[in-house]
Amino acid sequence: MKSVLRGALLGAVVGLALGAGPALADTVKVGVIAPFSGPFATVGKTFKEAIEVYQAQNGKTVGGHTVQFVYKDLDQANPAQSKALAQELVVKEKVGYLAGFFFTPDALAVAPLIDEANIPAVIFNAATSAITEKSPLYVRTSFTLWQATVPLAEHVYKTGVRKVVTAVSDYGPGIDGETAFKTTFEKAGGQVVDSIRMPLKSADFAPFMQRIKDSGAEAVYAFLPAGPTTLGFAKAFNDNGLREKGIKFVGPGDITQEPDLLALGDAALGITTTFHYSAAHDSAMNKAFIAKHKELFGSSDTVTFTSAGAYDGTHLIYKMVEATDGKRDGAKAVEAVKNLAWESPRGPLKLDPASRHVTQNMYLRVVEKVDGQLVNKEIETFPNQPDYGFKGK
Ligand code: PHB
Repeated sequence: MKSVLRGALLGAVVGLALGAGPALADTVKVGVIAPFSGPFATVGKTFKEAIEVYQAQNGKTVGGHTVQFVYKDLDQANPAQSKALAQELVVKEKVGYLAGFFFTPDALAVAPLIDEANIPAVIFNAATSAITEKSPLYVRTSFTLWQATVPLAEHVYKTGVRKVVTAVSDYGPGIDGETAFKTTFEKAGGQVVDSIRMPLKSADFAPFMQRIKDSGAEAVYAFLPAGPTTLGFAKAFNDNGLREKGIKFVGPGDITQEPDLLALGDAALGITTTFHYSAAHDSAMNKAFIAKHKELFGSSDTVTFTSAGAYDGTHLIYKMVEATDGKRDGAKAVEAVKNLAWESPRGPLKLDPASRHVTQNMYLRVVEKVDGQLVNKEIETFPNQPDYGFKGK
């Protein structure tokens, strides 16, 4: 054993003496926690595919270190299970990074663990502003509800709407969305006539539709986690005659995410959202991303905002592995990227050093049919939006 160790050390010293070369090559593991089964299984798939697109375009190594992704399935918001999976990844798999996290409670649950292990957690989605305040080792490449909702509320007011009802899932991001909408819309001069909070696991939306009708609002602002939840809500909106009644349906782009547009069908036409990523974003980099996705997986129909979060999160992981020369030093890794600016398939991105969350364009989009396919067409840009909800320093 001792001689093996001595041999390894000697190898390393020789490697150093020869300069960085194959002798120093090693593997840095990244543990990705996300839904790969159950109602939100598409999310894990979008994360994994986006990581694979990034690696196909940029190689599997950076600075001589191979970056290997290890996936763990967490099918629903379950903070205790998220913590247990993270522990397993750190202790057994010896990952140098954690990543993924679709639901806010799952991201929040790993704060003490990443602090203790001194490893960064790269949030590909979870969108409650307060998350990054809980540990200096969180970095986030998705969006926040505050970031998407402030420009949306201002836009809705400008269209002449004065009375809005908010309807949100009753947990972190929903409450952020509700607060952001009310604060911004009422500051502009509008009125939020009712604020509906729906249990995260609601499946029957008919009673909420009645309450929306009864509120007398001209528009409903809605946030639910993208997937069967948003789909169920949007279908109920149509089936209960709210669309027919002329009530406008607005929200962050979770409500019209690309994988659900087909199921929503023409009833989605005209829904107005603000969001950070549309698969229809018109840029060379997005076209290259979509083309590589098609080449690798045969279709790009499921490419959506969670794809963009994972793609850019992988970019940050590569930058951190490079800056720390593959060593496990979370504080140094985050320090190295916390001012980073880069080009993404969604447009220009910059990490804000205080919140460690991306400052980015928000786009006003409307669901339209282009060449027979429903897309989120970007019609206006709100440039360089910060996380308006960040309360830290
Ligand atoms: C969250 O839990 O933070 C979350 C989940 C799904 C979304 C957005 C945010 O679509």
